[in-house]
Amino acid sequence: MTERFITSTLNRKDEETETTLRPQSFDAFPGQQKVKTRMEIYVKAAKARNEPLGHLLLSGPPGLGKTTLAYIAANEKGCAIKTASGPVIEKPGDLAGLLTSLNEGDILFIDEIHRLNTTVEEYLYSAMEDFFIDIMIDQGPGSRSVRLNIPHFTLVGATTRQGLLSAPLRTRFALSLRLDYYSADELAEIVERSAGILGVEIDHDGAYEIARRSRGTPRIANNLLRWTRDYAQVKGKGIVDYKHASEALSMLEIDDKGLDEMDKRILETIVKNFKGGPVGINSLAVAISEEADTIEDVYEPFLIQEGYMMRTAQGRVASDRAWDLFGLQKIEKNPSVKKGRADNTPDLF
Ligand SMILES: Nc1ncnc2c1ncn2[C@@H]1O[C@H](COP(=O)(O)OP(=O)(O)OP(=O)(O)O)[C@@H](O)[C@H]1O
Ligand SMILES: [Mg+2]
Repeated sequence: MTERFITSTLNRKDEETETTLRPQSFDAFPGQQKVKTRMEIYVKAAKARNEPLGHLLLSGPPGLGKTTLAYIAANEKGCAIKTASGPVIEKPGDLAGLLTSLNEGDILFIDEIHRLNTTVEEYLYSAMEDFFIDIMIDQGPGSRSVRLNIPHFTLVGATTRQGLLSAPLRTRFALSLRLDYYSADELAEIVERSAGILGVEIDHDGAYEIARRSRGTPRIANNLLRWTRDYAQVKGKGIVDYKHASEALSMLEIDDKGLDEMDKRILETIVKNFKGGPVGINSLAVAISEEADTIEDVYEPFLIQEGYMMRTAQGRVASDRAWDLFGLQKIEKNPSVKKGRADNTPDLF
């Protein structure tokens, strides 16, 4: 009981800090230049015409700022925003309730939109396009459909897996933007900004060290900032400099390339257990006791971007860089082996 209470309190505190650290305007949001410029034009034009914003889809790995940008869009447009999450909208009735509670021009933000069930998704089509939904009342011979008109709203969808969205849903978004990992310089700016808000004393080298080892992700950078602050407070004078940042991150087993424990476990498993691959995502998930979805959403995109692994038609393959990481020589395989599938996992390309 106590443990549960502590956990939920901590989670609440974490959420509060995330909210405090969220930039409120495009100007206060470093990085994602392309996405930001397009969104700014989109919002400004709609605002000048005094029209609701067109539907917008934001995709990209977790913690890069999708939710933050949705709130900024509402802020800059000067409209209200209501939030929901794909898996929580279970029935068409839930969706109808949400849509009818909106006012003209409001934003409905649906997080994890790829996890909407198909029935609800189909109801969303007419809502997005023609601003009505037909709801079935009763069942059997007495059933009838009732048309509900809904205000002209804006759907902002967020997803970590754009590839899982059906084509009819994807094409109903007037603008679709993809967020990418941040550069170390951009993250250093974010760390310094967050340190200012949290009242943490930090120098540029300290901020840069955190930035460099944050997997290109602001959420991780902010979490690591809080950890290094604690470390510097206990082991030093509370100032986050290069030395304390570097020691604090090594203590969490985040190496100087920014790879964390799980990144290394994934690569080590492909290299050592599967002789460099190809290995299917399900076999890999079983080998490291992690959900396949989590590997695909959270870990794999960064490892691919950094050139440690590849996705091929046969499965995941470790690159030379991954072999080097463990000081091992790549095992050259018989080409005939490469023709077979590593397992029965359907390919997701
Ligand atoms: N460009 C940025 N500048 C400053 N802080 C940022 C930026 N992008 C994200 N953050 C911070 O990172 C945290 C995570 O951002 P956010 O919740 O918007 O990510 P997300 O893409 O919605 O993640 P998820 O897929 O997990 O929902 C927030 O606390 C936010 O303040
Ligand atoms: Mg989010």
